Amino acid sequence: MESVIVAIDGPSGTGKSSTSKAVAAKLGLSYLDTGAQYRAITWWMITNGVDVDDADVVASAAGKPTIVSGTDPSHPTITVDGVDASGPIRTQEVTSKVSAVSAVPEVRTRITELQRSIAASAEHGIVVEGRDIGTTVLPDADLKIFLTASPEARAARRSGELKGADVHATREALIKRDAADSSRKTSPLAKADDAVEVDTTQLTLQQVIECVVTLVEEKR
Ligand code: C5P
Repeated sequence: MESVIVAIDGPSGTGKSSTSKAVAAKLGLSYLDTGAQYRAITWWMITNGVDVDDADVVASAAGKPTIVSGTDPSHPTITVDGVDASGPIRTQEVTSKVSAVSAVPEVRTRITELQRSIAASAEHGIVVEGRDIGTTVLPDADLKIFLTASPEARAARRSGELKGADVHATREALIKRDAADSSRKTSPLAKADDAVEVDTTQLTLQQVIECVVTLVEEKR
C-alpha cells in the first residue's frame, strides 16, 4: 500500500486522539500527537521556572528542551530531555497554560519543524493530529479531516476522561482554551479549505473511526 499522510484537526474533546490512534493502528501508519508536544514544552517551561505569561521569555527559552515523540499508535511516548513526560503533561496546570505557550511564534516554529521532520521520516505514512496540521504544518497532506462536536458533547467526553470532573467547569475551560487557540495570530485552530468536516456529536467513536478509515482508503 502507498504511504499516506493524514491531518486530523479540531478543538478539544472531539475525539481526535482516540480516532487518530485507532485509524493509524488499523492501517499500519505512524501516529503523532502534536498537542502532546506543546504540552511537553509547556511542562518544561513550568518546571524550569519560566514565566509562561511573558512571551519574550518563552520565546528565548523555546529552543532549549529536547522533545522526542514516539510514533507507535499503540504506545505513543513523549520525552523531554530524556525524561518520560507522558504523565506530567496531562496535569491541570499544564492544560491551563498550554494555550499561552503555544501562541508564541518561536515555540510554533520550533515545534512545527519537529512535526514536519517526523512526518517526512514516517515510512508507511502517518496520522498527525492537532489544530493547524492541515492549514500550516502539512498543507499538502493527502487527506485532511476537521472534527467538530457540540460544546456539551465535548465537555461530557472530557469529564468522563477526567473521571468525574465537573461537566460545567470542564465546558467553561474547554471554551476558553478553544477561544484562545482560535484567536491567536500565528496558525490558529482552523479548518483548512480542503478539509472534510465530520461532526461527531451524534456518532460513537467506532463510527468516527470507520468514517475516517473509509476516507483514507479512498485516498490510497
Ligand atoms: O490536543 P491537546 O488538547 O492536547 O492540545 C493542547 C494544546 O496544545 C491546545 O489547546 C493548543 O493550545 C496547543 N496545540 C496547538 N497546535 C497544535 C496542537 C495543539 O497550538 N497543532
